[in-house]
Amino acid sequence: MNSLDEIRKPIVEDLKLFEEKFRDSMKSKVALLDAITRYIVKSKGKQVRPMFVFLAAKLVGAVSESTHTAAALIELLHTATLVHDDVVDDSYERRGFFSINAIWKNKIAVLVGDYLLSKGLLLSINNGEFRLLRLVSDAVREMSEGELLQIEKARRLDIKEEDYFEIIRQKTATLISSACACGAASATTDDEVVSKLKLFGEKIGIAFQIKDDLLDFGDENIGKPKGIDLKEKKMTLPVIYLLKNSSYLQKRKIINTIKNHNKEVLRVQEVIELVKKSGGIEYATQKMNEFKQEALQILFSFPESPARNSLEDLVAFTTDRKK
Ligand code: IPE
Ligand code: IPE
Ligand code: MG
Ligand code: MG
Repeated sequence: MNSLDEIRKPIVEDLKLFEEKFRDSMKSKVALLDAITRYIVKSKGKQVRPMFVFLAAKLVGAVSESTHTAAALIELLHTATLVHDDVVDDSYERRGFFSINAIWKNKIAVLVGDYLLSKGLLLSINNGEFRLLRLVSDAVREMSEGELLQIEKARRLDIKEEDYFEIIRQKTATLISSACACGAASATTDDEVVSKLKLFGEKIGIAFQIKDDLLDFGDENIGKPKGIDLKEKKMTLPVIYLLKNSSYLQKRKIINTIKNHNKEVLRVQEVIELVKKSGGIEYATQKMNEFKQEALQILFSFPESPARNSLEDLVAFTTDRKK
């Protein structure tokens, strides 16, 4: 697998400009808010979504001012949802640092998330980017719906595989999908091409979340808490697989643990062991690879280029990454 640095090569200059624009787009005169946004900039993530934006633009044309607006917009929305997500998941670590809610508490984290969201919307309005706004607005709605659908399912624990895929399509894939669509839209007026990249992004987004859910079962240091999904009654694919392949009695025992003893480390650990023994990890990995292959198929309908090669590597990174 090529490293992220390798993949970034065709777009290093763009990413440098992106970091500036991203930082500036968050500035505030309110001292507290400015301190928090500086903290966010310092604890930056992998920035794969801006990479998708730039590479998608390059794949179908050239990077423009619009591409830069799109990259900052998408990363702002992503950051906003992470800040809110850590409140929802009661999670105290993000990117190897304390999460916003861990330091400044929930009240402030909720407001900071809203601030970042509004900054993203303003950035597109101020640049007259209504086409981009149209592409991301549906994603913003679906992300909220996805997180809420997940809570609904967590309450009843009656989740089926198809529900899981719908949740992750909504909460994660829509944003990666709009990253690819916005990148393309910033470089071409051909709607068919934009649709193609949108679908490509959706497939990658689903694979991306399956991988995220697999990392939750792993032993690597991923810069955020592990084993937190079961603690939060989040039913991910490996668990769904385990339940589907359990006897009636075993299923009741597992559900009882997730429902009533989900904060007891040892009991949750038992379920994690059962998941591993059931072949649930392998099953989820196989599903992830299916989505990856579908994405690659779409990608390969474009002629070979440095951007396409980097996208291919970014797809591989999505499923092979360690964090
Ligand atoms: C985390 O996304 C949230 C998910 C959709 C799984 P990333 O793994 O891209 O987070 P950062 O930005 O690199 O921290
Ligand atoms: C939700 O998934 C990610 C979002 C779409 C905000 P997770 O809750 O699994 O994401 P992490 O693991 O906290 O990054
Ligand atoms: Mg979370
Ligand atoms: Mg996760």
